[in-house]
Amino acid sequence: MEMVGEARLEAAREVVWEALNDPAVLQASIPGCESLECTAENEFTATVVSKVGPIKARFAGKVSLSNIAPPRSYTLTGEGSGGAAGFARADIEVSLDALEPSVTLLRYGVKANVGGKLAQLGSRMIDAAARKSADDFFELFRKQVDGRTSNSTSAPAAQPAAMHAFMQELSASQADVATLEAPVSAPAVTAAPAAPTAKASTPEPVSTVNASERAAVSRDIPAQPTQEATPVSEGTAAEAQSAVMDVLTSEKIKVWISDQVAVVTLNRPGSRNAMTYGMWLAMPSIMAALDRNPEVRSVILTGAGADFCAGADIAEFENVRADVAQATRYEVAVDACCDAIANISKPTVAVLRGYCLGGGAHLAMSCDFRYAGQDAMMGIPAARLSIIYGVKGTRKLLSLVGLSEAKKILYGGQRFDAAHALQIGFVDQVAGLGSIVSERSLWERLMGARQQVAKSDPMAEARAFATSLAGNAPLSMAGAKYLLNGMAMGTGALDLHKSEALIAAAAASDDYREGRAAFGEKRSPKFQGR
Ligand code: COA
Repeated sequence: MEMVGEARLEAAREVVWEALNDPAVLQASIPGCESLECTAENEFTATVVSKVGPIKARFAGKVSLSNIAPPRSYTLTGEGSGGAAGFARADIEVSLDALEPSVTLLRYGVKANVGGKLAQLGSRMIDAAARKSADDFFELFRKQVDGRTSNSTSAPAAQPAAMHAFMQELSASQADVATLEAPVSAPAVTAAPAAPTAKASTPEPVSTVNASERAAVSRDIPAQPTQEATPVSEGTAAEAQSAVMDVLTSEKIKVWISDQVAVVTLNRPGSRNAMTYGMWLAMPSIMAALDRNPEVRSVILTGAGADFCAGADIAEFENVRADVAQATRYEVAVDACCDAIANISKPTVAVLRGYCLGGGAHLAMSCDFRYAGQDAMMGIPAARLSIIYGVKGTRKLLSLVGLSEAKKILYGGQRFDAAHALQIGFVDQVAGLGSIVSERSLWERLMGARQQVAKSDPMAEARAFATSLAGNAPLSMAGAKYLLNGMAMGTGALDLHKSEALIAAAAASDDYREGRAAFGEKRSPKFQGR
């Protein structure tokens, strides 16, 4: 018999891996395990009492670990004899995906065989018993891991070293942070696609945009149609700078880079990740740093906890969006933030769980793709707050869902669920929707076997998708993104000369040579982004 499943564990991948290799944890997790003793490296003897239908037996045998690839995967093989009851053997492939710094997806695939009296019980009864054992194992294992996470003093910090360094570097430089006001006074600088340049491929430390770079960027890249620049008074600039510093130091936005994927997390779960003015201001700098980081091939934008983002932080409107001047300045910051997400040269995926409302919807629409959980709830309640949704947000909505649906969303201000969002084209994928979940047989229900869980974690699907893009040519994807975004935003946003220049640069690139060579040599290409 064969079966697959997965379990979402609230612990860092390293913690789960350690637990998977700890004989005490394994013994406590294997249902009916009386003993598990290490006899050699990655080999154990075990005694397990197991009941399959009417047959209860004590199995004595060995457990071994093979194909070990820390901290990602191994194969656990258990085989034993239950005397007169017969024998059993199971090969269990276990793999760990780090979804977030402290969330791991454990996937398993089991192949099991039985012989002797057990084999006469029939496959249904054996399947049900095996499924129940697997469910019980992962439930017990989850408890062990939870215990470790709460007890362990040496558990990895919630913020891994790479992310810590990234955030420190962002927040360390006062000079760089000062440039973060740029979107407020000069939105065109961040409004254009971060077009692929030789620079993007040159390994260099992560840092924010400096003044000369900004000048170069603004020379190189055509301004997109955008609101008039709003002059910023010195007092406002200082306030903006301090708001950005607050976001970086208090980690209202977190960044985590692993396996070439950067996960940017809006981190105000108590307020459903509502965006403060400082968060809108801080995002362009974070995106610029990720754009230049050669370790990053794609970016996922998500929210901490149950929600993606409930829009702008309405609670602070009294202070930061009280009159026309403030509202204009605020909207420029929102557009600069969303432009920075839309125009980073790397593929972006928004992972939507729970609420995705108002400005949160604009953030999601600024990503290349949207992967939703079945619990996601979208909406743009501007008409309920007497706000006109911004030009760019409206344009993105129109290009995603079409005129009629856009009108329904904006006039009505109603929320819509993930299934509807998929139907109208607002999201690209709903995790687990339509996947086949096998019904439990009567016998399985009597045996207490749980319903097999559908693959339903949008982050797992988004990560798999983002990782699949990592092997493709960065210049090609960045060029396609520039052209498509420009076309989707209206012809005025697209500089045809720039487009031709990008196409010519890709044709002259090392990656283009590499792609042709790999094709001829029947191997996977190794792209460098230059
Ligand atoms: N700005 C500021 N705070 C927000 C917020 C927002 N956009 N959305 C939610 N919150 C806060 C709530 O004030 C509450 O804080 P509190 O616990 O200190 O009272 C907390 O998040 C939880 O939200 P709550 O309203 O209690 O949860 P709910 O399940 O009843 O409703 C929403 C959730 C998202 C439907 C509701 O909060 C809402 O309508 N938010 C505003 C959405 C909106 O209009 N966005 C567009 C802004 S332009």
